[in-house]
Amino acid sequence: MRSKVSIVGAGNVGATTAQRVYELGYADVVLVDVVDDLPQGKSLDMLESGPVLGIDSSITGSNGYEETANSDLVIITAGIARRPGMSRDDLLLTNMKITGDVTRQVVEQSPNCIIMAVTNPLDAMCQNIYESSGFPRNRVFGMAGVLDTSRFRTFIAQELDVSVEDVQAYVLGGHGDDMVPLVRYTTVAGIPISDLLSQEDIDRLVLRTRQGGGEIVALLKQGSAFYAPAASVTQMVEAVLLDKKRILPCCVYLEGEYGINGLCVGVPVKLGANGVEDIIEIKLTEDERASLGKSAAAVQELMDVMRGSGG
Ligand code: APR
Repeated sequence: MRSKVSIVGAGNVGATTAQRVYELGYADVVLVDVVDDLPQGKSLDMLESGPVLGIDSSITGSNGYEETANSDLVIITAGIARRPGMSRDDLLLTNMKITGDVTRQVVEQSPNCIIMAVTNPLDAMCQNIYESSGFPRNRVFGMAGVLDTSRFRTFIAQELDVSVEDVQAYVLGGHGDDMVPLVRYTTVAGIPISDLLSQEDIDRLVLRTRQGGGEIVALLKQGSAFYAPAASVTQMVEAVLLDKKRILPCCVYLEGEYGINGLCVGVPVKLGANGVEDIIEIKLTEDERASLGKSAAAVQELMDVMRGSGG
């Protein structure tokens, strides 16, 4: 029997993710959106690509949640996206309400599922979804670190003219401008990048990574990134559905790890069939720990605004 993956939000990120997950061929997909006929139209269009691609799994669209019943994995992308001049934090209260409503309906239909948060601002939305779900923390996590890391790897590979496959990197912290690219653990075929690039060049690539989402928003003008986000979500979907036990940076509710308590922040985890199966604690230098603390404080600020608004 195939796994069942539901994706809430049939916009740019949701629909592109649906296409990628459908094309994996081993999961049936349900796409949900509030807009009448939109998820139905997009999913039918994707389904009609099945004969050409040789895919027998199903993909259906819906404006309700009954069709999502007993999903193994639910991906929440519903919400509004950034436009030029907006930070991820400007989305906070609108997306808080949307993700809270969505989560309650998801949980009603799939009480045993794993939920992946994608809506921004990611860390605060992940925590909102975690708290609204009542699920244990291993079954609710957010996608941001894989994307931030992929951006960092792209820029390093371009700079050194090497294969992206040989670049390993970690980006920790919140999915905001304070994110923490861990330069010390960033290597090209095992060689530390500090041996390959000057500090000035590294700093430039780190800054571009931190502002990577904004760079795309400025170019697109109508919305935010979705191809690389959807690819990142799909890597995490595969880790769960195939029980790969990948070590990936994910946003997860911390209970004392890295000295952070009661907050969702991006850290390396082991991702498998049970969701977050382990939280990997890397030894950080004092500077790195301080940067992570700063990034966590920015997430805490958003949590305080949400709580102050009654969220
Ligand atoms: N239930 C279901 N779908 C909803 C709801 C809701 N309550 N509210 C909004 N949506 C849908 C919209 O109708 C729209 O189709 O969410 C979709 C969002 O799609 P886009 O506007 O294209 O935004 P997208 O680029 O997909 O980004 C979605 O992911 O990366 C983050 O910052 C991004 O928070 C944003 C989210």
